[in-house]
Amino acid sequence: MVQVVLPNDANPLGYILGGTVMHLIDIAGAIACHRHTRSLLVTAAVDGLQFLHPIKVGDLIILKARVTAVWSTSLEVEVAVFSEETLTGRRQMTSRAYLTFVAVDRDSRRIAIPGLILETDADRRRSAEADARRAARLAAREALEGRLGQDC
Ligand SMILES: CC(C)(COP(=O)(O)OP(=O)(O)OC[C@H]1O[C@@H](n2cnc3c(N)ncnc32)[C@H](O)[C@@H]1OP(=O)(O)O)[C@@H](O)C(=O)NCCC(=O)NCCS
Repeated sequence: MVQVVLPNDANPLGYILGGTVMHLIDIAGAIACHRHTRSLLVTAAVDGLQFLHPIKVGDLIILKARVTAVWSTSLEVEVAVFSEETLTGRRQMTSRAYLTFVAVDRDSRRIAIPGLILETDADRRRSAEADARRAARLAAREALEGRLGQDC
């Protein structure tokens, strides 16, 4: 996805709002996952997000999304975010996000999704790394549920 950063997207410094970047990450990730699953989806998790460089009004924001791993009803997508200066073409990576989506039907029931064909060593490495992130995510979710249970 490519979009020009307009003044309405920016803070008083002329930098794109973090929330706008998060929204675009969610959309780009969802598009890649829709193309894989051809189903409805909900976002289950977004891993910690960093903003390495500002993206300024007038720059392009470029988002590249790739499904990295697929499990039974959930899948992970990596979204890399870049800025590109319109006049020079200078490009910088500004964020990299991992999101988990869950495939659901119109009654919000979880549904099975097609497997991912891992063709290259890089594909297999990315999928193995995604397995490790999933384990950490599920552990974090369990810990959060435990804490929320105590707070209630
Ligand atoms: C995400 C959601 C569907 C999970 O439902 P659930 O009944 O708790 O499901 P389960 O614990 O059985 O997990 C279902 C799948 O999601 C995965 N999952 C659920 N929460 C996850 C998390 N925090 N991180 C990673 N994976 C997660 C599980 O690993 C499982 O995957 P698998 O079937 O591929 O093995 C449910 O929590 C939900 O609806 N959350 C709100 C979603 C939402 O409103 N998003 C924002 C708007 S789209």
